[in-house]
Amino acid sequence: MAGLFITFEGPEGAGKTTQVELLGQALANRQPVLVREPGGNELGERIREIVLTGTLELDAEAEMYLFMAARKQLIAEVIAPALAGGQIVVADRYHDSTLAYQGGARGVPTTWPPTFPRPDVTFLLSVPVEKGLERLAEAGKQPDRLERESIEFHLRVAAAYERLAAAEPNRFARLDAAGSRDHIHIAVMARLQPLLDRLDKTAVPPG
Ligand code: TYD
Repeated sequence: MAGLFITFEGPEGAGKTTQVELLGQALANRQPVLVREPGGNELGERIREIVLTGTLELDAEAEMYLFMAARKQLIAEVIAPALAGGQIVVADRYHDSTLAYQGGARGVPTTWPPTFPRPDVTFLLSVPVEKGLERLAEAGKQPDRLERESIEFHLRVAAAYERLAAAEPNRFARLDAAGSRDHIHIAVMARLQPLLDRLDKTAVPPG
């Protein structure tokens, strides 16, 4: 039995985390598994410290492998067992982040490892780069290593996301993040409804 794998992607300040929370609440009766990357387990949290808050100088490809190592551990411990058990998994960033940040913006050659499950749907929250960075600054949070990169870097991230979405129109749902959080949430639920209906049909009835 396969569950449903939903991921949220986008450049900085697009409001992914808010949408993951709203979706988690909307699906609460189905007990979805919510994960964020990097993190969500011990290895992921340790790697998060190295790649996001640490001061180590990292080679770009080494940085990519760290993100991917964290991801593989999360897949093994959480994502794959949940999907195999028919559950819904919602991820705040996943492998498309690596394709956009390390691939598109840093120029590292990237691939999709065959052992990384493909999401059923990926929501790309699209926001003008300047606006996203402004939102971050307003939130007053200490910027992490990636957030401190130049505006050109973030423009390359956004352009890479657009290319990924254009290349896989069936998997990606691109949503304009300039709308209100409630409007975006309604669009997310509309896109998911047929997938939720299908999940209900394949679910084994209790007892
Ligand atoms: P983000 O998702 O914005 O989380 P938070 O709200 O905790 O800041 O931060 C994660 C950062 O890591 C973001 O700048 C994108 C970057 N990142 C990569 O560069 N590659 C990856 O594969 C992933 C998962 C994240």
